[in-house]
Amino acid sequence: MKNVLYSNEVNTTLKTFIEGGDYNLVMVLVDNNTRQLVLPHIACLSNAHVIEMPSGDEGKNIDSLMSVWRQMEHCGATRRSLLVNLGGGVVTDLGGLAAATFKRGIHFVNVPTTLLAAVDASVGGKTGINFMGLKNEIGVFAHPQQVIVSTCFFNTLPQQEIKSGFAEVLKHAMLSSHEEMMTLLEMDINSVDWRLFLDKLQASVEVKLKIVDEDPTEQGLRKSLNLGHTVGHAFESMALAKGKPVPHGYAVAWGLVVETVLSHMKLHFPSDDLYSLARFVVDCYGPFHFTCDDYDELISLMRHDKKSTNHEINCSLLKKCGDVVINYNIDLNDIKAAFDIYRDLMGV
Ligand code: GLY
Repeated sequence: MKNVLYSNEVNTTLKTFIEGGDYNLVMVLVDNNTRQLVLPHIACLSNAHVIEMPSGDEGKNIDSLMSVWRQMEHCGATRRSLLVNLGGGVVTDLGGLAAATFKRGIHFVNVPTTLLAAVDASVGGKTGINFMGLKNEIGVFAHPQQVIVSTCFFNTLPQQEIKSGFAEVLKHAMLSSHEEMMTLLEMDINSVDWRLFLDKLQASVEVKLKIVDEDPTEQGLRKSLNLGHTVGHAFESMALAKGKPVPHGYAVAWGLVVETVLSHMKLHFPSDDLYSLARFVVDCYGPFHFTCDDYDELISLMRHDKKSTNHEINCSLLKKCGDVVINYNIDLNDIKAAFDIYRDLMGV
């Protein structure tokens, strides 16, 4: 995919893109965080029409989408107008859907401002909103004309937000090679020089892009990007239901450990790599606490995962880093055994 640029000169890169298109109007979609903290630093957007949406996942809904369409109508947008999505994954997901549907589709550019959005949400063409309590239930595949991936906004992100995005970086490394995974596990995530991290971020995004190029609409190989997510989503949903929500990437990190245990049990994933991963995850994210009384609830959540077919539990597992098996059907006793081992490894 050639429409992803990696640059910490965001203003210059975006200005070049805008000037190269024949747009009659430029709009920028922000939330209240990026309106205050990021937009003032992007000079080429100083005359853009600002469209604002609520921040956070609660605002990723049909009301916000209608409000964005309304604001686009009010500022006179046409099919030759451009929408720049400046924000995290909620902004790029909702903005992508707004642009893809307005007048049957206008051009849009994603400028992700969080690590999670840069490495995952803003690239690959998925757009969407939550609907009737279901995450990303309504959406389309639509590719932005340009994505500008940069690390220059990360210095001001809360550490929790950084760690959340880092789990997806870790997932891409595990889909890539043992060496890539070990390089990340040896990093001190509390003192990263973000300017220098741009190369690593590029390598990570390109793991995803290579997969998406082969399977843009998730018929097969793209399901490998679900590594860590079958269990991770169940942790996330259970924590939310108990009134103690956890960040998405934390749930993915814990899910990666359980699914790597399953990979070891079923496909002989190397135990040394499993131990290294578990040590890193417990040090960086702490453990996710649950007991054997929670197993049935977690299994039920996994059965009802949007990506499961016939209520069977299918995971993406690894024979080793870089060697993925998709649609691996998991037996309930194996899941329970993997939960036991996870709790042992994490000391809970
Ligand atoms: N977040 C996984 C994907 O884009 O397919």
